[in-house]
Amino acid sequence: MMKQRLLAAAVSALSLAPIYAKAQELIQPIKPPAQINIGMVDLGKKLYFDPRLSKSGFISCNSCHNLSMGGSDNLPTSIGDHWHQGPINAPTVLNSSLNVAQFWDGRAADLKAQAGGPIANPGEMGFTHTLAVGVLQSIPAYVREFKQVFGTDTINIDGVTTAIAEFEKTLVTPNSRFDQWLLGKKDAINAQELAGYTLFKESGCIACHNGPAVGGASFQKMGVVEAYKSASKAEGRSAVTGKDADRFNFKVPTLRNVELTYPYFHDGAANTLPEAVETMGRIQLGKKFNADENAKIVAFLKTLTGDQPSFTLPILPPDSDKTPRPTPFSQ
Ligand code: HEC
Ligand code: HEC
Repeated sequence: MMKQRLLAAAVSALSLAPIYAKAQELIQPIKPPAQINIGMVDLGKKLYFDPRLSKSGFISCNSCHNLSMGGSDNLPTSIGDHWHQGPINAPTVLNSSLNVAQFWDGRAADLKAQAGGPIANPGEMGFTHTLAVGVLQSIPAYVREFKQVFGTDTINIDGVTTAIAEFEKTLVTPNSRFDQWLLGKKDAINAQELAGYTLFKESGCIACHNGPAVGGASFQKMGVVEAYKSASKAEGRSAVTGKDADRFNFKVPTLRNVELTYPYFHDGAANTLPEAVETMGRIQLGKKFNADENAKIVAFLKTLTGDQPSFTLPILPPDSDKTPRPTPFSQ
């Protein structure tokens, strides 16, 4: 009787094994955006590339989140208006719609709430919302396009940020080799990359870097086992919650396309993936990876590079004679 029951359990476990294995993966494939408004995406794309949203007339969203470079600027910290040295590393905009909140400390709830920030940030685009909207309102082709999308002749910042956020929703990167593997194409990744994934799971990286974005879903301490030494003044989540317990809690970054988004960490202090993996193992998990293990994890991370957004470069409508001209060199 006992034996029979054991046997039955073993059999059912066996037949469930493939399903169970699938369910066990804590990383899910990136899906194409569900529902998008094409007209709004087109407008948002123009605005994303338009440097006239900055005081200097020179800095666009794409200056710091370059879509030809993994949606980042590949600098430790960004360069803003008047060559201002930014305080923190620019995260990628790729797959940012999957984040639980925006910014390293999560101070913006979503992409729309985020998009107004840089325009008016003196250290980034250095403009004001009123002046940026004034520039757009002086450009007849923009007025027409806003009217088509939002049904009104009056452009406002809400429309600007709504359109940019809609465009950003399209910046997802499906079809990475790892996703192909998740979806059943077993030869999409090689033995070394698979060994790296196994290490990534077994070492505990996956406790924080999981879900479709392989991160972006929670705030975690930078320096769980060992304090992280940084020249940066950023203290992370506590800036939002005011709680001492949240000091040095940062949004777990996505590891999608991570081979393109160097340098790493909020202070941009790690130049390479082997360095970032070494630091993570040591300060988050108390693990010292040997060279072979490190290389395996890095190989796995590189399988997370997906199809990059691909579209026709938007052609921006020209100024009218009434458009206020930029003043890049005035304070
Ligand atoms: C001067 C460089 C610069 C410009 C210009 C800029 N950003 Fe950023 N962006 C950053 C930096 C730096 C951060 C991180 C700031 C932080 O977390 O405190 C950031 C964060 C973000 C995030 C959050 C991503 C995440 O994972 O949390 C999004 C989305 C984003 N920017 C979109 C935009 C859009 C849209 C524009 C144009 C309206 C723009 N950025 C203009 C530098 C820039
Ligand atoms: C306790 C949660 C946690 C664990 C465990 C963890 N990470 Fe992280 N990871 C983070 C956080 C938080 C950051 C961002 C920290 C910062 O810059 O302040 C990060 C950043 C990174 C980055 C840099 C990404 C970027 O764009 O800057 C890489 C690469 C990375 N982790 C890989 C790993 C690997 C590999 C492991 C396992 C060895 C691991 N992590 C374990 C929370 C974790």
